[in-house]
Amino acid sequence: PHKLTSVKALAESPALSSIPSIYTFPKHTNDELFSDTEESIPTVDFSLLTSGNPDERSKAIQQLGKACQDWGFFMVTNHGVPESLMKAIIEACRGFFDLTEEEKREFQGKHVLDPIRYGTSFNAAVDKILCWRDYLKIFQHPQFHSPNKPPAFREIAAEYSKRVRQVAKEILRGVSESLGLEDNYIGKTLNLEHGLQVMAANFYPPCPQPELAMGLPAHSDHGLLTLLIQNQIGGLQVQHNGKWVNIDPIPNSFLANVGDHVEILSNGKYKSVLHRAVVNNRDVRISIAMPHGPALDAVVSPASRLVEDERNPPAYRAMKYKEYLELQQGSMLNGKSCLESVR
Ligand code: SIN
Ligand code: FE2
Repeated sequence: PHKLTSVKALAESPALSSIPSIYTFPKHTNDELFSDTEESIPTVDFSLLTSGNPDERSKAIQQLGKACQDWGFFMVTNHGVPESLMKAIIEACRGFFDLTEEEKREFQGKHVLDPIRYGTSFNAAVDKILCWRDYLKIFQHPQFHSPNKPPAFREIAAEYSKRVRQVAKEILRGVSESLGLEDNYIGKTLNLEHGLQVMAANFYPPCPQPELAMGLPAHSDHGLLTLLIQNQIGGLQVQHNGKWVNIDPIPNSFLANVGDHVEILSNGKYKSVLHRAVVNNRDVRISIAMPHGPALDAVVSPASRLVEDERNPPAYRAMKYKEYLELQQGSMLNGKSCLESVR
């Protein structure tokens, strides 16, 4: 593969006072609508979903359904994943990005379905403007993969992914139920036993002209549910009622968002939410997004029970998850254009 310049190396070059024009986004944050009120995203108390108390559970499912419908985005608290493990995986990812350029290049992916893929921007082969972001994407399930360096990476990633997958599966059971489906509907129909789980670690170095650059432009996620953590440096923005809302990092919780395949499955009742990452000129920001999707060979279409009524015909056509993933990951990130293509 050709030599790739990481944005980390670029940012570390001495006396970098302006960014190369290939990193300049034409339309940017200044001319867009921002929410003027301090809106707070909904919270789902995970422990109420699993407490075994049916009243508490149904209240939590109601909360979850409302969060999916109103925001498509919520905070998950009391999830039981140790804070030390969340910190450890962030440090392990930092350790990976701190490897030499040559060491990292070993993991440079060629194809979007390569199980380990290090790279820069979103898809440097097709991006016309480059994102101020390096990434490492690793398939964690149904088969576990890991780079062999830094030394502690594999063990921490295995434990973290296992714990987060349990949380995601439980939330997806709640999502099924909140849609009036059996709690194992998503699990069974989309074969989550073999569901795809990806660790997408993002590294955003300080940028001398943050108002011109973009970490990741607005997009929705491809899978069913993404669980995200970050290193306490802000940068995530979520679109809500047509305006951008800054999401502050909240220690020890997950940020969850509904992906395109929940929008498809729910026939549009729950919409995947547009979000993006902006950068700053002071701190390295690291985030780890974990999208949980159907099995790669699962075919996703609106749940039949939700489209029985002729006033509510299927709004999306059936498509194999693997094909969707190749399309979404192989194109430029562009809002919800991939989802539009199955409408
Ligand atoms: C993502 O959308 O995958 C990452 C967003 C972030 O860095 O907060
Ligand atoms: Fe995302």
